Amino acid sequence: MRILNSPAKTAGGNGDRKNLDACSIVIFGASGDLTARKLIPALYHLFKEKQMPAMFRVIGFARREKTDAQWRTELRTALDQFSRTKPVDDKVWAAFAENIFYCVGDLTDDAAYAKLGKQLAAFGNPALSENLLFYFAISPSQFGGVVEQVHKSGLLKKDGPGWQRLVVEKPFGHDLPSAQKLNHELTRFAHESQVFRIDHYLGKETVQNILMFRFSNSIFERLWNRESVDHIQITVSEKIGVGDRGGYYEEAGALRDMVQNHMLQVLSLIAMEPPVSLEAEAVRNEKVKLLQSIRALTPEDVAKQIVRGQYFAGAVGGQMRPGYRQEVKVKPDSNVETFAALKLFIDNWRWSGVPFYLRTGKNLPLSASEVRIQFRPTPNVLFAAQCGNKLDANALTLRLQPNEGISLHFNGKVPGTTIGVRPVRMHFSYDAEFGAYTPEAYERLLLEAIAGDATLFIRRDEVETAWKIADSIRTGWEGKALTNREFYGAGTWGPIAADDLLAQLGHVWHEPQVIK
Ligand code: BG6
Repeated sequence: MRILNSPAKTAGGNGDRKNLDACSIVIFGASGDLTARKLIPALYHLFKEKQMPAMFRVIGFARREKTDAQWRTELRTALDQFSRTKPVDDKVWAAFAENIFYCVGDLTDDAAYAKLGKQLAAFGNPALSENLLFYFAISPSQFGGVVEQVHKSGLLKKDGPGWQRLVVEKPFGHDLPSAQKLNHELTRFAHESQVFRIDHYLGKETVQNILMFRFSNSIFERLWNRESVDHIQITVSEKIGVGDRGGYYEEAGALRDMVQNHMLQVLSLIAMEPPVSLEAEAVRNEKVKLLQSIRALTPEDVAKQIVRGQYFAGAVGGQMRPGYRQEVKVKPDSNVETFAALKLFIDNWRWSGVPFYLRTGKNLPLSASEVRIQFRPTPNVLFAAQCGNKLDANALTLRLQPNEGISLHFNGKVPGTTIGVRPVRMHFSYDAEFGAYTPEAYERLLLEAIAGDATLFIRRDEVETAWKIADSIRTGWEGKALTNREFYGAGTWGPIAADDLLAQLGHVWHEPQVIK
């Protein structure tokens, strides 16, 4: 991994473009939402900030008949809507758009791949037809077929010349066997090192900062263990409901949609051991080790340690939302979870006995992602007379989004003649310190894939270990209908069962703060 703000390739400026190989980015599924909303805006910004290779091409591959010019016009319209900086810079766009091309073709048609090969060769520079980033913005059921086709057409090789990489999106399987099957399909014609599995949480600045924060600050890292930490809470709350994604969500649920990937990724960065270096394999080895040391869950454990929830109708921010069972394409008696809360234990030397609480849900009061490291309390003898047992323990909050920042919570004396003690906080805000520059996760991830650095991508064993955990939870839930304590009103912080879960050890959830 390259360190943020280092003078290396990612730091911006013309020097960067010299360091990255000329290449072509081929997007399969170019007509889809992801291309217009995320990929093209990300590439445009990388180009604008002079971080793209000096020479590159983007080819959109899709079935719909259209010309390069038509596709460029469509993308420009979408960019006006989705760009994180507005207005779009006409001059920059014009220069960027010259590199964008379209290839009409069916994913199952041999001839289409031959045509793609010819189009790449016609760029007239071997690097543009040999260094290829294949972006799979398509359904996972199509991955295997496309990999085989690009291999057959000679565009994907295991050992060069040039380099070829496969960038794939979630959902990466729906359980362990399906993920293993996908992995097998992807690596039939490519090495594992050529596969870049995206979890967009790893592209977020604040998530990357977890490792920097932990391993470049001696005062925190020495407290980062069972001796000092009482428990850890990871909250990813979302104000949105499932909206028009009911069909997908019925198959996924919060566990597959958020926990198996984003939340376990955040957990592994928070809890992993220091890697021997910042190289991709070193970091990923430690993440896998951490996931492997999460205590396995039997169905009895699931009943005690894992809570699911589903929202019923209620108001979020003053706006009425339908219940999950009333959403489009959702079964009226669905038991799919829109909320999940987990109590996990990590059986290793550092964390033995420390509960890790994870929760995520839709239609909660606030969109916020936070990690709270709750330290052990002091012996409550000195201030017991004034504060009873209400004295807050120290805590450190890593706010991942929005209002990115870090807060340290401690107790201070209330000014005055009495010995009043009150929790106060010291706060660091990214915006205040670094200005409002927050690149989109996809910018960073695309750049890393172009540079061939896999640190921010999920390795095969990582994804499979995470599925093992999710599968054991699903097995525990199998055939069980939701109970009354598992329903929650839209606009509340989740079901009562989630509070019960923490109450087992005398803990309470800390709601993310509204930071203005
Ligand atoms: C996606 C999930 O992976 O992550 C969505 O499919 C969820 O359901 C989204 O809303 C959350 O991402 P972010 O970046 O908005 O926190």
